[in-house]
Amino acid sequence: MTPDHQPSSRRGVFVTGTDTGVGKTWTVVGLLTALQRRGQRVRGMKPVATGCRPTEQGLRSDDALMIQAHAGQDLPYEWINPYAFEPPIAPAFAARQAGVRISITRIRAVERRLARAAELTVVEGIGGWRVPLGPRSCVSDLAARLGYPVVLVVGLRLGCINHALLSAEAIERDGAVLAGWVAMQIDRDYRTLRDTLDTVKARIRSPQLGFVPWMSRLDPEALASHLEAGLRYIV
Ligand SMILES: Nc1ncnc2c1ncn2[C@@H]1O[C@H](COP(=O)(O)OP(=O)(O)O)[C@@H](O)[C@H]1O
Ligand SMILES: [Mg+2]
Repeated sequence: MTPDHQPSSRRGVFVTGTDTGVGKTWTVVGLLTALQRRGQRVRGMKPVATGCRPTEQGLRSDDALMIQAHAGQDLPYEWINPYAFEPPIAPAFAARQAGVRISITRIRAVERRLARAAELTVVEGIGGWRVPLGPRSCVSDLAARLGYPVVLVVGLRLGCINHALLSAEAIERDGAVLAGWVAMQIDRDYRTLRDTLDTVKARIRSPQLGFVPWMSRLDPEALASHLEAGLRYIV
């Protein structure tokens, strides 16, 4: 079971989502960009990544490289992504195949070092809130140990209302602080946008931090503009 959330004296946010592929990384890039525009010293982290590419330097995650490019070009890659696995499968299975135990304690130690010179750290989870990291631990345990408020990214597609409400319920029941949620239009032709936003808004107590419309390509400045107004709930 997930232990009670341990509030941290330092600042950061933990970005989770209704699923994999819902816009967590784009949200992290948007938040990092928006915070930097305000003159904040920020760091980003992707503690566990699967589907990584082998390179001469070792395994590399596109998510982690994107985060490093936006906040952390001066940092060793391993500080941003301590656990990288090649197969594009669930992290607990990838770790088992690699004979590795994902240690939340180790991730926390790396995150503390990373965050030392930062005013705010933005940490991207993997998959959704209850994704296993090992035989007993989950992403939610990692979030609890880091102790940061949680941002839930809702990828707008059919089924997302259920995923959003269940995730919000679980986050709150675990004792974490749900700082707010981001509506990410991952489907250009999503038909019930207004109804979906109204429904989620009415049923999740935490504020909507932003709405990011469908964009034909990743544009950090535009992402930042869509998330800017929500920063007051996390900074
Ligand atoms: N606002 C958006 N507009 C268009 N496509 C998006 C948007 N947000 C995300 N996507 C698409 O969804 C994919 C998954 O987004 P990503 O941030 O990588 O999700 P996650 O980190 O949750 O797996 C992106 O590669 C992109 O193609
Ligand atoms: Mg991602």
